[in-house]
Amino acid sequence: MKRIKKTLFSEKPINIGENSGYDNYIMAIESSCDETACSIVKNGREVLSNVVASQIKTHAKYGGVIPEIAAREHLEAINIVIEEAFEQAHIKPQDITAFAGTVGPGLVGSLLVGLNAAKTLSLIYDKPFIGVNHLNAHVCANYIDTDLKPPFIALLISGGHTQIIEVKSHSEQNILGETIDDAVGEAYDKVARLIGLPYPGGPLLDKLAKDGNRFAYKLPISKVGEYDFSFSGLKTAVLRLVQSLEGEEVKSKKEKGKSNQDPQNHSPVHPFTYSPYTINVCASFQETVSETLLIKVKSALKEKGYNQIVLAGGVAANSEIRRKFFELENQGYKVNAPAMKYCTDNAAMVASCAYFSTNTFDDVDVEVFSRVKGLKK
Ligand code: KG4
Ligand code: ZN
Repeated sequence: MKRIKKTLFSEKPINIGENSGYDNYIMAIESSCDETACSIVKNGREVLSNVVASQIKTHAKYGGVIPEIAAREHLEAINIVIEEAFEQAHIKPQDITAFAGTVGPGLVGSLLVGLNAAKTLSLIYDKPFIGVNHLNAHVCANYIDTDLKPPFIALLISGGHTQIIEVKSHSEQNILGETIDDAVGEAYDKVARLIGLPYPGGPLLDKLAKDGNRFAYKLPISKVGEYDFSFSGLKTAVLRLVQSLEGEEVKSKKEKGKSNQDPQNHSPVHPFTYSPYTINVCASFQETVSETLLIKVKSALKEKGYNQIVLAGGVAANSEIRRKFFELENQGYKVNAPAMKYCTDNAAMVASCAYFSTNTFDDVDVEVFSRVKGLKK
């Protein structure tokens, strides 16, 4: 679809998007949480540069993201990341078609840094500004390096959101269901913390789960609304399970003379030192979460009559979730998930969204927002 946007000073009309008749080079900035990212993407699908400065090491010390520290780190990283993105793409700011930035949802102080940088660049170089919804951007990560087109069902699973979305076109999306309590990534991080894994626990829990027996413990699959999710009951069930296993684990550690903890700093040391109980809890939790997601999405695909499904968000990097969903290809469904680096927060997905989506914020005065339901403005 062709969309016309105006440059900020001269108010020159600029065609953006498919059928605009020439190559679009969109530069985007993402800073909604703890990654400062900048990317330049050609025609919504071809990534010319993708720079991500992660703050994970800083926040790991505190066991979670500290908003004030995150905002300060974004300020330190932003100019470096932007320069690097231009350098890698071998492109000059004058040749950029439009500048894009994440407007929300996210941490307000963090969003402000990236969004103001994107607005400033569009003002300096007199180009259109395109504000993007972070959740919509996660879904659009699926357009990178593919020829994917709507309609499809998207399963958005991130640290803050869990939604089943009916994507009818680049302009029309309906949220069919969402979590009524924890997001999937949040459940992963909380369960990881209660079994003693360092922040962010999701990726490590996934890694440990691969060595465990996923049928070792039966955990509950919540029964909430048709396409909705609830993960708080599962989290409590894991807590109870861990407490009941603790006695046995301590006994077995004493017998084997092993420990999960580094005696110096009391933090977990190496995956291989986790007990078989812990590893089986990880595998059983992962099995329950992935099965829950699959059941709901399969019924949405059938009942709404879709044959395409895409995964989106940080948790779409999960190995078992990917395995289960890609198995749907054997049942005739088309399945897509972004490459790992485009699942977790990045700016390439923001650039792709700015190119394809009609649900964008094109007023340079748009303000950041912390929470929103869904993908619309
Ligand atoms: O999309 P994202 O980068 O940030 C948000 O927008 O929230 O998602 C981050 C979330 C974290 O909760 C992290 O633990 C989770 O994604 N995550 C994973 C994996 N990789 C990242 N969870 C499970 N398995 C993974 N492999
Ligand atoms: Zn995200």
